[in-house]
Amino acid sequence: MKTAPFDPEHRIGTVTQVLPDAVFVNLDAVTQRTGRLLSGRPLRGGQVGDFVVLDCDSHALLGRILEVKLPEKERLDIEQQLGHTPDPHPLAKLHLLGALQTGTDKVISGIPNYPALGASVFAAGADLVSHFASSFSLKNEDGAKPVTLRIGHVRDGVGTPVEIRADHLFARHCAILGATGGGKSTTIARLLEQCLASNLFPKIILIDPTGEYAAVAKGHPSLFLGSTATPLGETRVRIPCEHLQDGDYLSILAPSPTQRVRLNDAIHSLRMVEVLSRQGFETERAQLATFLAADGVITKNGKTRSTFYSVRTSAVVADLVENPTTPFAFRHLTTQIMNECVADDNNGTWRPYAQALEWCQPLLSKINALRVSAAWSPIFGDDGASVFTEIEKFLNNGERLLRINLADLSFDFRLREIAVNLIGRWLREHVRDYKLKADRPVVVVLDEAHNFLNRHLGDEDFKQPLDAFEKIAKEGRKFWLNLVLATQQPRDIPPGILSQMGTLVVHRLINEADRKVVEMACGQLDAAAAKFLPSLGPGEAAIIGVDFPIPLTIQIEQPPKDFRPTSAGPQFTKWLQPKVVRTPTPAAPAAKVATPSPKPVIAPPAKSNVPPTDDDDIPF
Ligand SMILES: Nc1ncnc2c1ncn2[C@@H]1O[C@H](COP(=O)(O)OP(=O)(O)OP(=O)(O)O)[C@@H](O)[C@H]1O
Ligand SMILES: [Mg+2]
Repeated sequence: MKTAPFDPEHRIGTVTQVLPDAVFVNLDAVTQRTGRLLSGRPLRGGQVGDFVVLDCDSHALLGRILEVKLPEKERLDIEQQLGHTPDPHPLAKLHLLGALQTGTDKVISGIPNYPALGASVFAAGADLVSHFASSFSLKNEDGAKPVTLRIGHVRDGVGTPVEIRADHLFARHCAILGATGGGKSTTIARLLEQCLASNLFPKIILIDPTGEYAAVAKGHPSLFLGSTATPLGETRVRIPCEHLQDGDYLSILAPSPTQRVRLNDAIHSLRMVEVLSRQGFETERAQLATFLAADGVITKNGKTRSTFYSVRTSAVVADLVENPTTPFAFRHLTTQIMNECVADDNNGTWRPYAQALEWCQPLLSKINALRVSAAWSPIFGDDGASVFTEIEKFLNNGERLLRINLADLSFDFRLREIAVNLIGRWLREHVRDYKLKADRPVVVVLDEAHNFLNRHLGDEDFKQPLDAFEKIAKEGRKFWLNLVLATQQPRDIPPGILSQMGTLVVHRLINEADRKVVEMACGQLDAAAAKFLPSLGPGEAAIIGVDFPIPLTIQIEQPPKDFRPTSAGPQFTKWLQPKVVRTPTPAAPAAKVATPSPKPVIAPPAKSNVPPTDDDDIPF
């Protein structure tokens, strides 16, 4: 069906000035002031935010009104005066969004040519906006209808539905940005709901840092990574400490330079115990039999150094021992560090070195504290299955959504950042091996991403970047591992990650630095479009990306009630309600006097120092 953008009845103004980034228009005064009705519907096309269409030779240009004003000399005349009807000549500034090839109805991104002075401007009808919006879900080149997700509608007074192609959204990573309360989590829930309802079949791993997606993942497996009681229906998991690498230990334990030498040696020795226990290392094991006498550790005191090094430095052993992915028994780390507190004796053996042991005491205490700490139990404890075994199970079964609940993971010691980074690192290593390619694409959804990206561990002496997700952003797509990141602080996301995002769903953004970051990351969002970002309502978002021909602002639809994230803030009206004090009923009326109807008396704010009762406590 060919659209007819230039209906004379929709004409609302004339082009008077054209700039590369804006077009100025003389608006028809009646439309601007009162609006017109067309076929019983209001004809919108004169207020800020309205869509308009411009006649430009073989193209129809879609624009949006950015600004409406009166010429300076008419500014005061607009006041209504008795017997005087103002006759204003309003002006509008437009931002051009995209073009339509008239005749073919093909939507083109960018502006092929600019309108001439005197060109007519028309209100864009709902069918035309709908046509632009449907360009988000254009057919595949082979003519097949792609899988689309119905995510919202255009706020054009009619509610034109918007469907977007799932591959456009996920195939190049997607960032959902916006200030707190802008609607990011709801958008994630909507996307998940639409994905699960369609025949689209990526595997979705949802990292839920706040626990708000319990309802969204109902009926799908949920893994609980935390130290308190496991929520009903969830599977308790841990990140086995074998997955920590040398750098992780160095940054978590922050050893002094002297302690670091012993810590490194101890980790290497424990790895050697592990390697020598493998098949094929029988000779080496026999050579070091006296070193391995004590269970699970290497004893060096009194032993010949050259015997040890002949095995330790052999190429095959050295390779494995120095490989940070070779596991070792963390439970023996303190004993092994003590065993490393030795010095070279003159006869080629090792002797005890009491001072080194003294230096290492604080490190030993730290490690012991970690092993018994409840906060660290999801890593150093024994409770629960390995999160990686469970993820692997999910990748190989028929489930479509896996939620990892981190709500209860401690905020201390950067534990959350470390855990999320370890999960990211594991995923990345697995896709690098093409393990997933044989199967289906995997989409990893990470809400509150600003808490996990651009983070480092350690200090000046030893700095370890937590950059697993940055690496996934850069190379994951090739291996069918795609990201959906939601964050309220785009400025905290490394530019390297934002520039990898093919699609941006931008909710309300108030902070100017954040808007600038988004503008820089995305060519299509110019300063004009960015002006709408602070005034977007809850759930309203600009969809921007290489695959979306025009930067359209849409209202994301909320998923059904039982599929929404539980992210509501405290109900202040409930908790801060002043107490109603009822006046005691008198035993008998003193006299029959007409009294006004009884009203509750609002108690004045309490002045006493008495602590409030439990009822008054605000639960945050
Ligand atoms: N699409 C929508 N339509 C209508 N209302 C919405 C929509 N999205 C969000 N809201 C409203 O805004 C509130 C906050 O939404 P949401 O929790 O999704 O925001 P958020 O951006 O994730 O916030 P935060 O950064 O604090 O996590 C919701 O409780 C809901 O009332
Ligand atoms: Mg949220």
